Amino acid sequence: MALLEIQKAGSPVLKKTCEPVKRIDGKLRSFLDDMAETMYKFDGVGLAAPQVGRPIRAVVIDVGDGRLLELINPVITAREGTCVDSEGCLSVPGIFGDVERAEKVTVEYTTRYGKRRTLQADQLLARCVQHELDHLDGILFIDVAQSLRQETEES
Ligand code: CO
Repeated sequence: MALLEIQKAGSPVLKKTCEPVKRIDGKLRSFLDDMAETMYKFDGVGLAAPQVGRPIRAVVIDVGDGRLLELINPVITAREGTCVDSEGCLSVPGIFGDVERAEKVTVEYTTRYGKRRTLQADQLLARCVQHELDHLDGILFIDVAQSLRQETEES
């Protein structure tokens, strides 16, 4: 496993529409391991592949419920409700903002072993899924936030 370098806002890779993952193999699994290690190291709850310089459709998420989710080629197939809450991003250190998101989402994705699965998410997980999937389309939360503020730590 290896720590990956996190790309910060301003890096062109963060503005790209990412390519679908075509090959699910040991190299991809090792990359997912590195992504998870990097996310945990920097206390993130999610990390998208372009944030570590690879414009492919893969994200890792752990909202602290003891479950590491790896979503390959994820697609949101249903959304329900809306809610506004605070977000931050490892690519935009020190900045937080209120973002409106769907309250609940259904997401289809491929696992690290190539199985297609469906996940129902609400609360923080739903927010995180939407935030990370936005990264795959070159969208940062600062592009869609209603308001932004600078903080040294999230309160
Ligand atoms: Co982010």
